[in-house]
Amino acid sequence: MKLKVSPLSSALGAEIFNGNYSNPLNNEEIELIYKSFLKYHLLCLRSKTLNSKELYKLATYFGKPFTEVTRNHWDIDVPEISILESTYNSDKDKPKDPKLNRRSGWHTDHSFKKNPPKATILHAHNIPSYGGHTRFCNTRKAYEDLSAEMKILLKNLSTVHCYDTKRAPARPVKRSKEEIKDTPDVIHPLVRIHNETNKKALYFNSNRTDRIVGFERKKSDLLLDKIHIHMTQNKYRYDHEWEIGDIIIWDNRCLIHSVNVDYPIGEARFHLRTLIKNNAN
Ligand SMILES: [Fe+2]
Repeated sequence: MKLKVSPLSSALGAEIFNGNYSNPLNNEEIELIYKSFLKYHLLCLRSKTLNSKELYKLATYFGKPFTEVTRNHWDIDVPEISILESTYNSDKDKPKDPKLNRRSGWHTDHSFKKNPPKATILHAHNIPSYGGHTRFCNTRKAYEDLSAEMKILLKNLSTVHCYDTKRAPARPVKRSKEEIKDTPDVIHPLVRIHNETNKKALYFNSNRTDRIVGFERKKSDLLLDKIHIHMTQNKYRYDHEWEIGDIIIWDNRCLIHSVNVDYPIGEARFHLRTLIKNNAN
């Protein structure tokens, strides 16, 4: 059966039906999927659950998967695939205030790296009976809607991305001395040009973007807050309600995401994840 592509929302994303991702895809399918990824910025491949080897094979159609910093998540046979459990096993695992859970902050993955991944792939193995949606905002559209004056103001600005910033309400996991050494502050442009489509998008991570280079703290905070509010408006947003087997591939160069961390205690939530290197790296 032929693959069918259908938009998920007016903001971003498309779902793809009729794929069997346990088998190799043919060239026509690979081309359709990759073109759709660039067009919609996010794809949801409706699938049965795949094992790590099958997911790795699928990931290679998008580029080169790589291993993450945190080794304890690595799949024993395929280290480029991380197994992420986000189950709340007890009362104390679930924060009273969602803001205190790092995952609920709007972010683009691994912007603490000099060369952040172009895409993330997340595959649902277990999902709770409610909540736990992954939410996305389209930062290309958000950029395009800015006034001409704002575009001029942001044109040549750069920002410092830190592993941790006091602007974020929640702290990341503690790093070892070696990991701290491996994660120095990096600088990224505030407006990023997509290296495959040449389209501009805002590049801002509320968990990592600390300040605008050359601005005093107060002025920097004001502008970053304004950008944050602008790019997370509902008109740019799509919330994904997971189904078991869903494989989501999103473009970190023009989307931000966060998690609805309000889901039941004691219900399993497991995903497989991999990150894809940016071709420009
Ligand atoms: Fe993330």
